[in-house]
Amino acid sequence: MAPGKIAQSASAARNDKPGPRSVSIGLIGLGTVGAGTVKVLLEHQRELERRLGCKLKLKTLCSRSIAQRDLSWLGQPVEITPDWKQVVRDPEIDIVIELVGKLPTARAIAQATLAAGKHLVTANKQLVAEHGMDLVERSRAAEVNLGIEACVAGGTPILHAIREGLAGEHFTAVYGILNGTTNYILTEMERRGCDYREALVEAQQKGYAEPDPTFDVEGYDARYKIAILAMICFGQPVAVERVSAEGITRIESVDFAYAHRLDHTIRLIAGARRRAEGSVEIFVRPLMIPRSAQLAAVTGALNGVLLVGNKGGNTMVTGRGAGGEPTGVAVLSDVVQIARAIVSGGSTTTPLGYTHWRPARIAASDENEVAAYLRLVVRDRPGILARVCAILARHHINIDSVLQEPAHSKEKLPFVMTLEPTREKYLARAVKEIARLPFMAQPPLLMPFSQLP
Ligand SMILES: NC(=O)c1ccc[n+]([C@@H]2O[C@H](COP(=O)([O-])OP(=O)(O)OC[C@H]3O[C@@H](n4cnc5c(N)ncnc54)[C@H](OP(=O)(O)O)[C@@H]3O)[C@@H](O)[C@H]2O)c1
Repeated sequence: MAPGKIAQSASAARNDKPGPRSVSIGLIGLGTVGAGTVKVLLEHQRELERRLGCKLKLKTLCSRSIAQRDLSWLGQPVEITPDWKQVVRDPEIDIVIELVGKLPTARAIAQATLAAGKHLVTANKQLVAEHGMDLVERSRAAEVNLGIEACVAGGTPILHAIREGLAGEHFTAVYGILNGTTNYILTEMERRGCDYREALVEAQQKGYAEPDPTFDVEGYDARYKIAILAMICFGQPVAVERVSAEGITRIESVDFAYAHRLDHTIRLIAGARRRAEGSVEIFVRPLMIPRSAQLAAVTGALNGVLLVGNKGGNTMVTGRGAGGEPTGVAVLSDVVQIARAIVSGGSTTTPLGYTHWRPARIAASDENEVAAYLRLVVRDRPGILARVCAILARHHINIDSVLQEPAHSKEKLPFVMTLEPTREKYLARAVKEIARLPFMAQPPLLMPFSQLP
């Protein structure tokens, strides 16, 4: 073979027709991710084309307010429209990138794109978590490809890693820090000892948190993402509403002080694990994790995912979970994969990782035995400890240790008990009773310890 020449691939050799000389893209939604994707595409266009061996053409941009926008930064002629249906109808467009955000519109665009026989790339986690199976069926029927890499942990290749790189593995669990906003807030509270409000305001000023942060701080965003990860890791569809979600709003800086005394830290962990009897446990909640745990090293707005396989052990992927350009890279990685399939006349692998599915039985997490951290804030007076201990004893809960940080007001005195492993439902009952004690200055905070590697 002549130097510099590469042997023709088997699929290309099978293909009589040469692949197309150009692949055309229509992009709908020019917000944070849309604009980031366009910037990365234009900046990396030559390199992407060298990877592909064909031209990659940004044919049309669509956004409701597109006519009012200054698009001089594009530096090349691109058609514009405020009407997404025009993009989906255009016979010259091969791949539609959907980045509009709102579910009903995103879903309508996705369905219309697949019905029109076009390939689809989306970054919409809600769309994929709630309607992913339907979209896969539609894309299969239309013989087109569906790209979803940007839906989980934005700029990291986590879905590709699970689906392709580790397709030979049997995953027993997946744990992630899947929301950069909450991780930024928690790790700022940890680093500086500031309170939740102050860290939230700073996250908003830096653009990491929305003006209404509920979706992130209550764990709803991470809930969609862990549902997608569980589907792809286990081949079992998970209904999002079956994923329990607890947010970070009740964590205080004093919890980090106690966590450190116990050589632990606090992270909002989204997790899914298979149980021996075949059910799946799936949750989003703040957990006490060892400071040596791999996920404890994920700080700031970063995301991290820890995959646990029964042969390869632990595999960790970490990186930028959000932001226009990092997420744009994930969107374009799907575009490259799909464009390669268009060029070779083949198809990409199935986006949710499996072709045959088993129904998931979701386990009730309150049957778990966990060791727990219990923080009580009380109006100090004699006999408090005796009354709390009596309730715990009545529920057969053993105390491991009692800790108290100095220099707090007697009217709002925090102290902590660490509790030996007990079923979560017994812990919940005991905490409910403790919450009713007359000297409680605020509701108790219960957080399980998790022995994450
Ligand atoms: N932001 C992130 O870092 C991130 C990371 C990973 C995944 N995602 C996902 O990526 C998607 C986009 O997020 P984003 O943050 O870029 O949203 P965004 O900033 O709110 O942008 C949404 C864009 O969609 C356009 N749009 C809305 N409805 C439309 C319609 N009917 N027709 C045409 N255009 C329409 C808006 O247009 P106008 O402004 O012209 O009205 C806007 O340009 C979401 O699904 C999100 O969950 C985001």
